[in-house]
Amino acid sequence: RTLLNRIYTELYITEGQSEEVNTQHEVRQLETASKMKSLHDTPIKCHDIFKALTDQQSSIRVVLTNGVAGVGKTFSVQKFTLDWAEGLENQDVGLLTVLSFRELNLVKDQQHSLLTLLRVFHPALQKLTAETLAVCKPLFIFDGLDESRPSLDFNHRELVSDVTQRSSVNVLLTNLIRGNLLPSALVWITSRPAAANQIPPACVDRVTEVRGFTDAQKEEYFRRRFSDEELCSRIISHIKTSRSLHIMCQIPVFCWISATVLEHMLTTDQRGELPKTLTDLYSHFLLVQTKRKNNKYGEGHETTPQQLTRADRDVLLKLGRLALKHLEEGNIMFYQEDLERCGLNVPEASVYSGVCTEIFRRECVIFQKSVYCFVHLSVQEFLAAVYMFHCYTKRNTEELNNFLGTYWKTQSTFSLDDLLKRTMNKSLTSENGHLDLFVRFLHGLSLESNQRVLGGLLGRTENNPEIIQRVITNLKKMKSDDISPDRSINIFHCLTEMNDHSVHQQMQQFLTSKDRSKKLSIIHCSALAYMLQMSEEVLDELDLNKFNTSYQGRWRLIPAVRNCRKAQLGGCDLSETHCEVVASALVHSSCVLSFSAPELRQIITLNPSDPSTVSRD
Ligand SMILES: *[C@@H]1O[C@H](CO)[C@@H](O)[C@H](O)[C@H]1NC(C)=O
Ligand SMILES: *[C@@H]1O[C@H](CO)[C@@H](O)[C@H](O)[C@H]1NC(C)=O
Repeated sequence: RTLLNRIYTELYITEGQSEEVNTQHEVRQLETASKMKSLHDTPIKCHDIFKALTDQQSSIRVVLTNGVAGVGKTFSVQKFTLDWAEGLENQDVGLLTVLSFRELNLVKDQQHSLLTLLRVFHPALQKLTAETLAVCKPLFIFDGLDESRPSLDFNHRELVSDVTQRSSVNVLLTNLIRGNLLPSALVWITSRPAAANQIPPACVDRVTEVRGFTDAQKEEYFRRRFSDEELCSRIISHIKTSRSLHIMCQIPVFCWISATVLEHMLTTDQRGELPKTLTDLYSHFLLVQTKRKNNKYGEGHETTPQQLTRADRDVLLKLGRLALKHLEEGNIMFYQEDLERCGLNVPEASVYSGVCTEIFRRECVIFQKSVYCFVHLSVQEFLAAVYMFHCYTKRNTEELNNFLGTYWKTQSTFSLDDLLKRTMNKSLTSENGHLDLFVRFLHGLSLESNQRVLGGLLGRTENNPEIIQRVITNLKKMKSDDISPDRSINIFHCLTEMNDHSVHQQMQQFLTSKDRSKKLSIIHCSALAYMLQMSEEVLDELDLNKFNTSYQGRWRLIPAVRNCRKAQLGGCDLSETHCEVVASALVHSSCVLSFSAPELRQIITLNPSDPSTVSRD
């Protein structure tokens, strides 16, 4: 309901992409990639993506734009389209159409020609002829490849070169991308990184990546949103005080979540501290959205947290159930059947889409079929954690066993620290960290302060400081021998969610003092790896043997190679899992160690036990 031109904040878009992004969890990618100004990045303006930048570059026909969920891909598409429609940019293009994969899913079983496909989705093109299409220089934008069910398949041999020839949507699109069908057409595809490899690199002329907001753009976002300067400054300065919030704000949708919560807290009569942890922030977010709905329905007065109605709780928990069930497969889109399986019937869901419009979006699409999704993956992860915690307090062993693959028969073997340990254990074995944020939220929810915010949603909780202490001690001692050191860093983040800052503080002291004789525990090493990796300063040399710690500790330090000029990794008995982190550092575009050396990557991966020194020279 706001004009795009008024709120649009420029995004940081680069040519090329960081290779690592394909496998890692999106929030983890953000952390490692948060230092955006790297040597190899070439920023590119959204409206220039089809323009050749150098004389050598031949014409650009197919562009693939990557970016994590909520980073602003669809916004870029809208801005591009608006600028074209207003006659400002790309005026050589005669016809521009946007088709989302989300909508294309709905015709996947039908046979169409390119012409009829365009007519189905854009009735205004009813009179478009094959002849016009051939001469008007069309641009087709396909938004959200990651949402394509099933994925695009380039392995077929069916050739379609005529815009009136009928075939499956898959065949039409792949022929269009390959240039067999309508070779004069430009094609722009956007995707989350995990799905981008569906398209063979040879078919793509340019890859760009939407990286979200730089620090300056984060501030601009808030300034455009709030006319009240004082409020705006308080929000910006609060976000800067919390490292995790500040990093997350690289994703525009996260800026929106923070802005929603902080504006509400600062403008209503709220006592108490502003949220500093993610769990705290998301708990308030859930509440603010639910309150909004209550106000919308005419009550007028503010509801307090304790007044989360039974009906609200009921729906939120069903959503949580949906969220948890689909977390494992990384499913982010739901159809009516998926809702029904979790006890959400459709009338309820539509009331509910009124209840929490902002949390769970009902995508109104043609053909009367609705597609649902959470506004951001992190909201799904949060609700999944809420539901899991609820199952724990309600002793719903069946759900817990389903998820954890363990077998709890009786209540006696069933304690909070046990649950958290097992969940953490499961998340550590994930290859891409798809449970990292979920586990962080789950730990955060064990704190009384966060439980208070959510009122009765979590069920009756016993708050025993001894148990909380035990959880913290468990985290600090948690073993992770052949687990990727990147995963282990999440253990440190869980401590932060639990408001335990001791490890962080000790490591800050360690970094400022010259004394290196202090023995470091494994959790110290994970914290240090994280801090070194995120530091503004590039470390001259990382020598694992110079740290007074165990082998396990040295392994956990490895992620710091991403931010050093020279790394001494010899004699540490690295396994293949550890070497993968080094290799990922070498191919990452922001790594100072990095230069184009695929051989080096192979050497390291093949000879894990070889004392290897990798340096710029
Ligand atoms: C965690 O996983 C390890 C190895 O996978 C296993 O030996 C250990 O018993 C597990 N611990 C818990 C609490 O499940
Ligand atoms: C490592 O730490 C232990 C315990 O603090 C200490 O006794 C030992 O001297 C230290 N080793 C080195 C090489 O500094």
